[in-house]
Amino acid sequence: MSITVSPSATNAGLTRIDGPAKVTGTAAYAFEQPVESPLYLHPVQATIARGSVRSIDTSRASSLSGVVDVMTHENAPRLADASDAEYAILQGPEIGFRGQFLAAVVADTPEIARHAAGLVTVDYEVSEHDAELRWDHPELYAPEQVNAGKATDTATGDADAVLEQAAVKLDRMYSTPWENNNPMEPHTTIALWNDEGLTLYESTQGVHPVRMAIAPVFGLPPDDVHVIAPHVGGGFGSKGLPHANLVLTALAAQRLRGRAVKFALTRQQMFSVAGYRSPTIQRVQLGADPSGRLAALAVDVVVQTSRIKEFVEQAASPARMMYAAEHRRTSHRVAALDVPIPSWMRAPGECPGMFGLEVAMDELAEELGLDPIELRERNEPEIDPETGKPFANRRLLDCFRLGAERFGWDRRNSRPGSRWEGRRRLGIGVASATYPYMRQRASSARIRYEGEGVYAVHIGAADLGTGTWTTLTQIAAECLDVGVEQIRLQIGDSSLPMATVAGGSSGTASWGSAILAAAGRFREEHGTAPEAGAEVRVRSPRQLETEGLSMHSFGAHFAEVSVDADTGEIRVDRLLGVFSAGRIINPRTARSQFLGGMTMGLGMALHEQSVMDPRFGIVVNHDLAEYHVPTNADVRDMEAVWLDEFDEHVGPLGARGIGEIGIVGTAAAIANAACNATGIRVRDLPITPDKLL
Ligand code: MOS
Repeated sequence: MSITVSPSATNAGLTRIDGPAKVTGTAAYAFEQPVESPLYLHPVQATIARGSVRSIDTSRASSLSGVVDVMTHENAPRLADASDAEYAILQGPEIGFRGQFLAAVVADTPEIARHAAGLVTVDYEVSEHDAELRWDHPELYAPEQVNAGKATDTATGDADAVLEQAAVKLDRMYSTPWENNNPMEPHTTIALWNDEGLTLYESTQGVHPVRMAIAPVFGLPPDDVHVIAPHVGGGFGSKGLPHANLVLTALAAQRLRGRAVKFALTRQQMFSVAGYRSPTIQRVQLGADPSGRLAALAVDVVVQTSRIKEFVEQAASPARMMYAAEHRRTSHRVAALDVPIPSWMRAPGECPGMFGLEVAMDELAEELGLDPIELRERNEPEIDPETGKPFANRRLLDCFRLGAERFGWDRRNSRPGSRWEGRRRLGIGVASATYPYMRQRASSARIRYEGEGVYAVHIGAADLGTGTWTTLTQIAAECLDVGVEQIRLQIGDSSLPMATVAGGSSGTASWGSAILAAAGRFREEHGTAPEAGAEVRVRSPRQLETEGLSMHSFGAHFAEVSVDADTGEIRVDRLLGVFSAGRIINPRTARSQFLGGMTMGLGMALHEQSVMDPRFGIVVNHDLAEYHVPTNADVRDMEAVWLDEFDEHVGPLGARGIGEIGIVGTAAAIANAACNATGIRVRDLPITPDKLL
């Protein structure tokens, strides 16, 4: 097979259908939906990390003019199902983490609500807390399984014995910090409770998943919960499932039946109730023969969860399928701490896990005197080493070959610290990327011919700013064989047909397959000259032929950095990502997704770190002034391209999904480039200037 970059990798595609509304400020996000005389909520949050409320004094808040209601655990409605501690808001006096909601003020204006919340005083029963993750934490445990239903531990052969005897052995510790999802749009809710049930305007990655998760909490039939979110300003996993802010707002609305209650998290509140990526501590051991072939590989990971709800970042999982090695072991151990509840953040598992593994591969290459790409070639597995299944479409090496040529890999000097430009040291590095194919099957789509050449296409999907409005319109037009201007797409409303979450890079493949199936059925039943009102509703078909295959996307990141020899300041001068992700539906929005992932990877490499003060159980840099993400000046020459592909295994759509792979491996490529520039191996992210001096 010849390797070609897709012509669409550089050509522009259909521009965003929602673009004009967004850039003119007329796209209404959840918080901006018109509701009649709304009230505003502001929460009171715990200022201790563990304990309980002894008493809570709301008298000053209640007597303030403009305050409509003050709700605490003493007067809040009881939930029908309080088994999920994240949703069991104001159901009792216990405190599981600092920042937990203890009360809420509802008032005529957000300013009054906020001021009144500050007048509520809480008397605490304080318990000892533990908010510090350590490799040797005394209470580490093995969870039943880790995120995405993966196995906690795996073992094949005898990794320890073989590592012991390996000709070349590497044994290193790596760490990635606590990182918080920081979408531009915060998590917002408008809740309205009336005779029809509960209406929620919610900033979410999935209106149907919210409905299904929240209905049982309030003891409502799922059809009595209506969730609306036509535009979403990013989520990165933190809006994949509802959080405490939704439950708190809905409880307030339940007490104030008939009045809409609005609550937008502040940036600071997002750091305690919107989920985050657990810090990871990773021990990576590689044992190779002198030619660089891995004989054994072991990856042991320690992560944290909250004491009140378990979420385990599956950071050891990508090591299970990346490279051939006969003897292998992976494990996850967890500490349950008095900290906020971790959750999904872009490419949970793969993203932090590929930092340790990919820096370790670079270290091994250095030890062997081998080119890092060559090392990966020598360890390319014939079949998935974890499952024994053949790979459906493993084109990792094609990504490297194409990237090497495009990036000018041959300019790399393998001796670290040997390239200078004035007082700056220059270096180049690479890392692999991978992300599993995770199409979900439960989506449905409805197509109705409205007459006058117009087709209404309905599906309760979400556009997080990723391009769903555009790509689903394109898919519908293509499958119906009509122009895109003939499609009237509707998404972001749970009264539309069922759609799965915009997560796991599965959105386009899942929803697109439902639309594709519906379009086929429509033409079968109604032909090409349908009558107005002709309609079909179709559930996405079961996919065939994939059971026996290992299905993943792959990629290669190339980074060039320069490091100021006097200050340690590091700049990522060039980044190239080459991806193999199946068919790319829209090159313009896809490029943006890849670049967005890579930019977030750049942030992970250089900037992002939630600093926990374990004495108080609080992330101290809980705002965008101190939690740094890349700005325009940090992003210099960045390019994303992709292989010309159509993945026949995933069905007639041919697309696997692209939301997450852009971030996987980026930070490792940058760390490897930094080492090539300076000779300094940074194993603990982020790579701040002090680490390069
Ligand atoms: Mo993504 S973290 O699965 O929204």
